[in-house]
Amino acid sequence: MQHPPALAFDRVGMTYPDGTEALSDVNLTVAPGEFVTVVGPSGCGKSTLLRLASGLLDQSTGSVEVDRDRLGYVFQDATLLPWRTVRKNVELLAELHEIPADERARLVEEAIALVDLVGFEDHHPNRLSGGMRMRVSLARSLTLHPTVWLFDEPFGALDEITRERLNGEVLDLFTSQGFAGLFITHSVQEAVFMSTRVLVMSARPGRIIEEFEVPFEYPRAKALRFSPEFGALAGEISRRLEDSHA
Ligand SMILES: Nc1ncnc2c1ncn2[C@@H]1O[C@H](COP(=O)(O)OP(=O)(O)O)[C@@H](O)[C@H]1O
Ligand SMILES: [Mg+2]
Repeated sequence: MQHPPALAFDRVGMTYPDGTEALSDVNLTVAPGEFVTVVGPSGCGKSTLLRLASGLLDQSTGSVEVDRDRLGYVFQDATLLPWRTVRKNVELLAELHEIPADERARLVEEAIALVDLVGFEDHHPNRLSGGMRMRVSLARSLTLHPTVWLFDEPFGALDEITRERLNGEVLDLFTSQGFAGLFITHSVQEAVFMSTRVLVMSARPGRIIEEFEVPFEYPRAKALRFSPEFGALAGEISRRLEDSHA
């Protein structure tokens, strides 16, 4: 028997109350252990897709099935509470899930170590760099040991060096924690570097118009980005993405 998918969209349409049709007939599955990235033009419905996956929003048509017991969600903004320390921000989701205090403390400590923020536990967010703030956001989801993890352009606002470093860190977590990932980005390079599969969306109303398997083994070395195979695949995806704007 095949594993059930961690996340499945079946003929999903989404029209907002004001009549804006954001998504039309989206079919998509993410199996356990897959890292799937969606690229598409601005405004095509990518964030809508993640809101449906998270259960923050209900689809208009079709079905969305996601294992949401342990759901990670990271947004472009780190969404930290400025009055809480790093430790207290990381603890937030575990609190909401009513995990007992001693277990929570252990999970928080483990997550902070995994994102390399040991020594910064008592700092407030305004003293952290953009990259460190995103690490806090990652750690907050990590405390849940996510089975499904949603990423909405998490590193889009960071400089390239920080972004590439965090790409590597998320992949380390992916290979060590084994979640199913659904990642959104504008960057084709980032999509290819991270993923087992890349999906290209059309302009609004968004549909999946093409799917690319990414053949590279994990762990992926930084130098992969400079290989001819990487360049060829990224080029092919970029061309498809340009067509999708037409
Ligand atoms: N709450 C809303 N009400 C009406 N329209 C919305 C709402 N949220 C997003 N939209 C519209 O739906 C479309 C898709 O938005 P979004 O999913 O944010 O796109 P993306 O993340 O790909 O840029 C856009 O045209 C956007 O303006
Ligand atoms: Mg968006």
